[in-house]
Parts: sequence; structure tokens; C-alpha cells
Amino acid sequence: MSPILPPGLVSLVLTHVALLSCTRRATAQRIPEILQQSVTDYAPLTNVECPDISTHPLLRTWTSQEQALHPQEAEYIDSREKNVLPKAWKEWLGDGSRLGYDLAAFEGKWPRVGIAIPGGGLRAAQYGGACLEALDARNDSAKGAGTGGLLQVSSYMTGLSGGSWVTGSLFFNGWPTLEKLVFGSDGLHGWMLDIPFVTPDGINLFSDENQWFFGSILWSVMAKAQAGIDTSMVDPWSRMISYHFLNQTTRDNFLTNDTAHGAGQLWSQIPRLPSYQNFEAPFPMVVANARPSGSNSTAALDLAATVYEITPLEIASYDPGLSAGMNLTYAGTRLSNGTFENGTSCVVGLDQAGFVMGTSAALFNQIFDFARNTIAGFGADDGAGILYVLKRLLSSVRTRADDVANWPSPFTGVKPDVYDDTKSDWIELIDGSSNGENVPYGPLFVKARQLDVIVTAEGSADIPGLNWPNGSSLITSKSRQATLLRMSHQQFPAIPSTPEEFIQFGVNARATFFGCNPENATDYPLVIYLPNAPPFNGDDPVTNTATFQLTYTLKHTRLMFDQIHKNIISGFSPNTNDADPNFGLCLQCAAIDRARFKVTPPIPRSLRCSECFKQYCYDPASPPSKDQLPGRKLNFVDPDPGGSVGGFLQRNKFGIIGGGVAIVVFIILLTVGL
Ligand SMILES: *[C@@H]1O[C@H](CO)[C@@H](O)[C@H](O)[C@H]1NC(C)=O
Ligand SMILES: *[C@@H]1O[C@H](CO)[C@@H](O)[C@H](O)[C@H]1NC(C)=O
Ligand SMILES: *[C@@H]1O[C@H](CO)[C@@H](O)[C@H](O)[C@H]1NC(C)=O
Ligand SMILES: *[C@@H]1O[C@H](CO)[C@@H](O)[C@H](O)[C@H]1NC(C)=O
Ligand SMILES: *[C@@H]1O[C@H](CO)[C@@H](O)[C@H](O)[C@H]1NC(C)=O
Ligand SMILES: *[C@@H]1O[C@H](CO)[C@@H](O)[C@H](O)[C@H]1NC(C)=O
Ligand SMILES: *[C@@H]1O[C@H](CO)[C@@H](O)[C@H](O)[C@H]1NC(C)=O
Ligand SMILES: *[C@@H]1O[C@H](CO)[C@@H](O)[C@H](O)[C@H]1NC(C)=O
Ligand SMILES: *[C@@H]1O[C@H](CO)[C@@H](O)[C@H](O)[C@H]1NC(C)=O
Repeated sequence: MSPILPPGLVSLVLTHVALLSCTRRATAQRIPEILQQSVTDYAPLTNVECPDISTHPLLRTWTSQEQALHPQEAEYIDSREKNVLPKAWKEWLGDGSRLGYDLAAFEGKWPRVGIAIPGGGLRAAQYGGACLEALDARNDSAKGAGTGGLLQVSSYMTGLSGGSWVTGSLFFNGWPTLEKLVFGSDGLHGWMLDIPFVTPDGINLFSDENQWFFGSILWSVMAKAQAGIDTSMVDPWSRMISYHFLNQTTRDNFLTNDTAHGAGQLWSQIPRLPSYQNFEAPFPMVVANARPSGSNSTAALDLAATVYEITPLEIASYDPGLSAGMNLTYAGTRLSNGTFENGTSCVVGLDQAGFVMGTSAALFNQIFDFARNTIAGFGADDGAGILYVLKRLLSSVRTRADDVANWPSPFTGVKPDVYDDTKSDWIELIDGSSNGENVPYGPLFVKARQLDVIVTAEGSADIPGLNWPNGSSLITSKSRQATLLRMSHQQFPAIPSTPEEFIQFGVNARATFFGCNPENATDYPLVIYLPNAPPFNGDDPVTNTATFQLTYTLKHTRLMFDQIHKNIISGFSPNTNDADPNFGLCLQCAAIDRARFKVTPPIPRSLRCSECFKQYCYDPASPPSKDQLPGRKLNFVDPDPGGSVGGFLQRNKFGIIGGGVAIVVFIILLTVGL
């Protein structure tokens, strides 16, 4: 069937080869471009001319013994570390004397730092965003406290699910401060979290406003389906994410078709953005899991399931079971053993920024439990009824997996002995946390990336009813690395062995450094763990909200940012409710520590930093206690009860159930529409 492009899908063929492009070879490498003008620019272009893969393969493979980074990634890291980071380290640490070092000794030996932003919906996105702001040299109070600067010295950043929204939003809005990005200013419109994701006009699905919105979303998804790429629930979800986290949507145009609302903005175009061109930002990577294609599984994945990363260059996996990467520009192109079907079977434009963020956050296969006919949070009867209807509708209009992000597979035929999806035409990508690793550590531990320090902006909701992290994600990553990834990934440092221990030791309730004292600096990276924690000063917490809360009043977002900011810049003073005036310094000690080992002979740790490490490092031989953290309040207190949501919206707030019902009903409407 030849694809019928819907009216309004404007496509234009441009050539990247600006000059001297008259040879045949250059012509063959033209990459067709998608515009960013209409919501229908969400549709990929199919049947486009394929590039010459005899000289420039679309697929790279390697082995765990001999890993190879994408050459453009290696170049990016190298340029940032040569041209940008030395200055950033000096601006952050001065001459080093406050830490007890002479910074000049570390010249050219700076530790390589990565930041991980975990999942957990809008709570995690706000936690991650507020953490970054507290580590950003551009923020006065963070700079003053000494924490601001860590963001500037980092080389990599990973995001997963809600965390991927922060990563994407920062890049596609020009790498602004979090203050401007989240609350708006200077031409930015803010995240607008007071406007409900699924039903912007409130719970009445049939209001004109909601119907217009659904129509626009549907128009995007239909354009993609008509281009010949199977869609799923993840597509409308991706479009809804774009309205908040990409840059074309304002309160005034929210319910119009006046802009593309982020359609046509591609992850593979990140290298064209000024922040990337100037090496101003860390290299971004987003994590997704895959369930075995065709399995229809609704259960959590086991640790053997492949973990994928999406960078601006590739969709790839460094797991020993795959060790391959596909040129992201051509994602959506089906390759068998690295080769396309025919010279015009290529696809571009599947890597829509919204779809990448939606893929990493595709948890539908776990909310909608088709096998047991339940929906998390619903009574059995209601859940079964809704699912029955949903299932009937979906099966009559869709061709495949409705609850996952469908990516045509470029990896068919690759590693036939070890790759679990080697025989599939599709990879079924789902939420990056589906294997229990809610922190996107995978890409940061890849051996070839050689990270020395990994910062964790940990906003997971683990403890039932309280929504604080309990270390379970770290325990899972440690175990995956120790069993399946010994060849391919660095190992995790020592951590408490159970969530109960994390809680009992208090290390989940204040800043903690793991892996401070390796025998050999290459044993494992130092992990700086910054958990979402009860306010150190005994205030009521406002940051431990539920994952499926899909609306926040502006006031709540403001208070969340302020509370997280204060907690991150303050560290803790044992046995008190006071801030630690030295925390900024201690964070600097942790960030620079691995540089000592790169000098021959290694420079001993300074007295000042040794004192810091006594307080903040986790020592398995002598674990701390939560009793050092007195007077913390654990229960969430709504700081804005009955607060109204803004703009054209009705007063409405969704909790976990409201959001879930709205999504289900919306999807039903969507499929009826189709
Ligand atoms: C720094 O961050 C805090 C907390 O979010 C915010 O209140 C403040 O306005 C920020 N300052 C600047 C200069 O962005
Ligand atoms: C939005 O960002 C894209 C790049 O991602 C840029 O090309 C475009 O000009 C921006 N649009 C607006 C309205 O700022
Ligand atoms: C945008 O256009 C589509 C297709 O015509 C329509 O269904 C939808 O309601 C429109 N949305 C708005 C906000 O006007
Ligand atoms: C998964 O669902 C599809 C469509 O309903 C069905 O054809 C297929 O047999 C199912 N696969 C398994 C393993 O149950
Ligand atoms: C993807 O392929 C095109 C065509 O060969 C090439 O121009 C581009 O540099 C490739 N991108 C990456 C990241 O390898
Ligand atoms: C895949 O390609 C490799 C080398 O290009 C070749 O040795 C192998 O036989 C091919 N496998 C299949 C299934 O075509
Ligand atoms: C090339 O492959 C595409 C995708 O499968 C198909 O739609 C098209 O008809 C094929 N073209 C030719 C000339 O075989
Ligand atoms: C720890 O977190 C996991 C989920 O992330 C949860 O299942 C478990 O109940 C939690 N345990 C404790 C003791 O909080
Ligand atoms: C540290 O580890 C590296 C790489 O594994 C090894 O080459 C080096 O000899 C080790 N150094 C010591 C002192 O064990």
C-alpha cells in the first residue's frame, strides 16, 4: 500500500551537502527533511531514498571486549573536555585551596562526570529539574552554596521516563536555566503543569475544548499511521508530552492548530542546536527497555531483557546481547543483517522528540494488565469492563502491540546467538524502569565511556504510601552489572544490600556518596546520590507526590522547586535540623576526588575533603544510622489544597485514579474516532 500523506503534511527535500553536491554520490546522500509547521509533521517520511551503505553503514556492531563509541560521540566528549570543561572546573573550584588542593596539579586530568535523572512522571521531572537547578552555576544561590557548577563540569546526562522529559526539554528549548524553562520567561512558556496532560479542559471529555485538543492529537497520530508506521497508545501520549516539554505551545495556542506543538522536532537534530554545537551541554542519552517482541507481556521484565539508549546519534545497546547501534536519522527503517529491503525502503522522522520521550515513559503495558484484566488503581470490575471495551476497539483498528512504543527493528539478524529480538521485525520499547532500574545508569556505566563520577538526581517513589526512594533501583542495577554486564559495564560500588538497610542507615534520606575508597580508581565510579528526601529542617514535605499525578498547580511546582533547592544545597548536619554550611565544599571534594588517582604518584586526599567524606561517604564496614536525621517529617502535605489551575481551565485536579481513567476513556474516544 502506498502511503497517503494527509493534507497539511508539508515535506520538503533539502540537501545537507550545500556545496559541490553535483556528484552522484552526494545526491544519493540527501536526507529528506520534515517541517515543524503542522501537528501532522509528526508523521515520518517513508519510502525515502536510502543512503549509500557501502561507504557509510547505518548499523554499527561491536563486542563487549572491544567496544566502540560512535565517532561523533567521542569527538563531542573530547571537544567539550578540551575546550569547555577546564574553564568550568576552575570557575567552580577556584584554585582548589579551599579544598586543600592545588588545582593546577589536576590540569588535563579532570574526572569524567555523568548525571542520571530517573523516572516517576511529573514528580521525577520536577525533582530532576530542581536538582539540576541546584547544581547549576547560573543559579545565584546554588553558586553561592558551592553546589552550583557540577552541572557545568559534566560530560554526560541520562534521562528515563519523567527524567527524559527534563533532558529533552532542556535541549529543545535552547539549554536555558531551569527557572526559565519550568516557569517561563524570555520567550519560553514554561512547563504549564497546571494544564492537565490528558484532558486540558478538565474531566468533561465532551467539552468543546477537550474535543478540539483530542482532534489535534488524533490528527498527528493518524498522519503517522497513514505514512504506514503502526501506532499505539504511546503516540497520543508522546504528543501530550510535547505540548508541555517542547517549545511551540503557549497558553494561548494550546487549543489551536496554529503551531506544530513540537511535531517535526527530531532527536537526531540535536546536533544542530547551538548548545550542542558550542559543546555547552552534557551529551544526552535516554533509556528505554524492550519486552520480547510478540510476547504481549504485561509483567515487569527480567534483568536479561535488552536495555536500549537513544542518543542524538543512535538508538543502541551496549548490553552484551546486542552491542549494536543504528543511525538515529534513519530510525524506523527496517534493516535485516544491516541491509535495507530496497533502495527506497528507508524511513526518516520516526525519532520525533515527543516520541523519544514518550517511548522512555511508555508504561502502559504495566498499567493496563490485559492478561489479568485489571488496571493498576482500579477495582476489578471497573478495570475488567473498561479493558474489555478497550481490547475490542483496539483489536479492530490496530495491527499490533497497542501498549508499547513500536519501533521497526534495524537489528533483525544481528547477533543471532545472543540477541533476544534477532528474529523480530519490531522492537517493542517500553518505560525504561520496566526491569526495576528506575535510574538510567546503564549508559553511564558502559566501560568505553570511562565515567569517574555519576550523580543521581533520585526522585523515585519506592516506599509504599510515602513515595520516597529506598535504593531498590541501585540494588537492581548493581545486580544486573554483577551478573550480566561484567564484560561491558563498570561495576557498582558498595551500597546497602536491601531497601530496609537503605532506610535504616538513613542514606536514602540525605546526600550520600558511594564508592569513595576504591583500591584502584578504575574499580568503579564514585556515585553521588541526591535522593528526594524529607526537608532537613523539619518542614512538611511537598515533593513526595504520586507518580500518576498529572496536574500540579503553579504554586505547588514553585514550592516543590524551592524545597528541593534548599535540601540539595544544604546537605545535613548530623543529629540536628541545621543546614551544613560545608556541603558545597564536600560536593566539590566528591566531584574532583578521582582526579587524585590520575596523577602519578596519586595525590593523597586533603584533610578538608577527608572530613567531608567521613560524613557523606557510605562505609559498609561502619554504616550510619537514620537516627542522625532527627525531626524529619515523612508524610506528604498538599501545600495548595483546592488550588485552582490556570488559564482557560476549570478547577480540576487529578490524582492517580482520575489521570488513569482519563487516559483510558481518551484512548477509547481515539479509537472510536479512527
Ligand atoms: C535559583 O533557584 C531557586 C530555586 O528554584 C529559584 O528560586 C531562584 O529564582 C533561582 N535563581 C536564579 C537566578 O535563577
Ligand atoms: C523551537 O526549537 C526549535 C529547535 O528545536 C527551533 O528550531 C525553533 O525555532 C524553536 N521555536 C520557537 C517558537 O522557539
Ligand atoms: C485541528 O485540526 C483537526 C483536524 O481538522 C481537528 O480535528 C481538531 O479539532 C483541530 N484542533 C483544534 C484545536 O482546532
Ligand atoms: C500477542 O497478541 C497478538 C494480537 O492479539 C496475537 O496475535 C499473538 O498471538 C499474541 N502473542 C502471544 C505470545 O500471546
Ligand atoms: C546517518 O547517515 C547519514 C547518511 O549516511 C549520514 O549523513 C549521517 O552522518 C549519519 N549520522 C550518524 C549520526 O551517523
Ligand atoms: C549477515 O552478514 C554477515 C556478514 O555481512 C554474513 O556473514 C552472514 O552470513 C549474514 N547473515 C545472514 C543471516 O544473512
Ligand atoms: C521497497 O520497500 C518498501 C518497504 O517495504 C516497499 O513499500 C516498496 O514497495 C519497495 N519498493 C520496491 C521497488 O520494491
Ligand atoms: C522499596 O521499593 C520497592 C519498589 O521500588 C517496593 O516494592 C518495596 O516495597 C520498597 N520497600 C521498602 C521497605 O520500602
Ligand atoms: C588498576 O586497574 C587497571 C585496569 O584494570 C590496571 O591496569 C592497573 O594495573 C590497576 N592498578 C592497580 C594498582 O591495581
